[in-house]
Amino acid sequence: MHVENDDVLVAAARRAAEQAYAPYSNFRVGAAILTASGEIVTGCNVENSAYGSSICAEANAITSVIAQGERAMATIAVACIDAESVGGAYPCGNCRQLINEFRIGRIIVTTGVGESRSHSDAELLPYGFTLEP
Ligand code: THU
Repeated sequence: MHVENDDVLVAAARRAAEQAYAPYSNFRVGAAILTASGEIVTGCNVENSAYGSSICAEANAITSVIAQGERAMATIAVACIDAESVGGAYPCGNCRQLINEFRIGRIIVTTGVGESRSHSDAELLPYGFTLEP
């Protein structure tokens, strides 16, 4: 699938959130990544009764890109389709580190009121850890 603009990516993230397995938090999150080859790859949060075993939408999407043999990712959009998202679906600290690993340069965060904001990876994780010089 090839993308025209951010709206398409946000719409894909919102659709992915519909697939969320979130019976514990009832907080459904979706993520959509635009890869360097122009494809969209999505993920949703998958919770677990052992809460720490839950997987975030961003982690799900990023690992799916890697699993299908791609490495380069340009943009990730994150959306929550539940009311609590009014403040914005910002990636958690762990997901910011995953975004940092693959140098995803743009993060589009959406709110429950239909607003979307664009951030750079450095904005969300300044001085992020890397083994690269
Ligand atoms: N969650 C995500 O999927 N992405 C984030 O960036 C923040 C939190 C999920 C984890 C859990 O399933 C639910 O949202 C509530 O924390």
